[in-house]
Amino acid sequence: MRLAVFASGGGSNFAAILDAIARGVLPATVVLLVADRAGTGAQEKAEQAGIPAVVCDPRDSGDEHAYGQVLLDTLHRHGADFIALAGFLKKVPAAVVAAFPNRILNIHPSLLPAFGGHGLYGRRVHEAVLAAGVRWTGATVHLVDEQYDTGPIVLQDVVPVLATDTPQTLAARVLVTEHALYPEALRLFATNKVRVENGHVILSS
Ligand code: GRF
Repeated sequence: MRLAVFASGGGSNFAAILDAIARGVLPATVVLLVADRAGTGAQEKAEQAGIPAVVCDPRDSGDEHAYGQVLLDTLHRHGADFIALAGFLKKVPAAVVAAFPNRILNIHPSLLPAFGGHGLYGRRVHEAVLAAGVRWTGATVHLVDEQYDTGPIVLQDVVPVLATDTPQTLAARVLVTEHALYPEALRLFATNKVRVENGHVILSS
């Protein structure tokens, strides 16, 4: 697996993926980090790890079609064959989704389909979870299609919501789970344990 990681923020999931590779539990190589703007923590982590980091800012491209071409050129130049969105806040252009069928994963900090969709990202997810008063939340790794947060679910894990939680404390607890879940989902793809049938993921052991 020649992995490209897309990130917009601090990159703690990116770091967890690198760590799983270094520990030998994820048979993959990260060939590229794509950031959607300059100066992210993820870009800094890539540079520290000696991984090529490329800023692809959609504002430099004009429209979705042009942005898709920039991303595809960058992916091909680095020989990427799989994409992991790790806190990437831009919609992936349709041309990229079409070029990587069932080869793009995203991680979302809730139990989808609850608390997902357009506008529900980052801290807003945890605020919505607390406002709803649910006892459990979690993390979801899913395949990416043309919509937000709707593709076939690969793995989920649950996280308790405590009465004392703030969006920050809840986000931190969910992140711990994300850091285990994402490398495990990628491992399933890297070792050919995933089939997609009728829009559902089937895992083999
Ligand atoms: C994570 O909570 C992820 O689920 C969401 O964005 C956050 C990214 O955090 N999509 P990080 O940049 O990996 O630290």
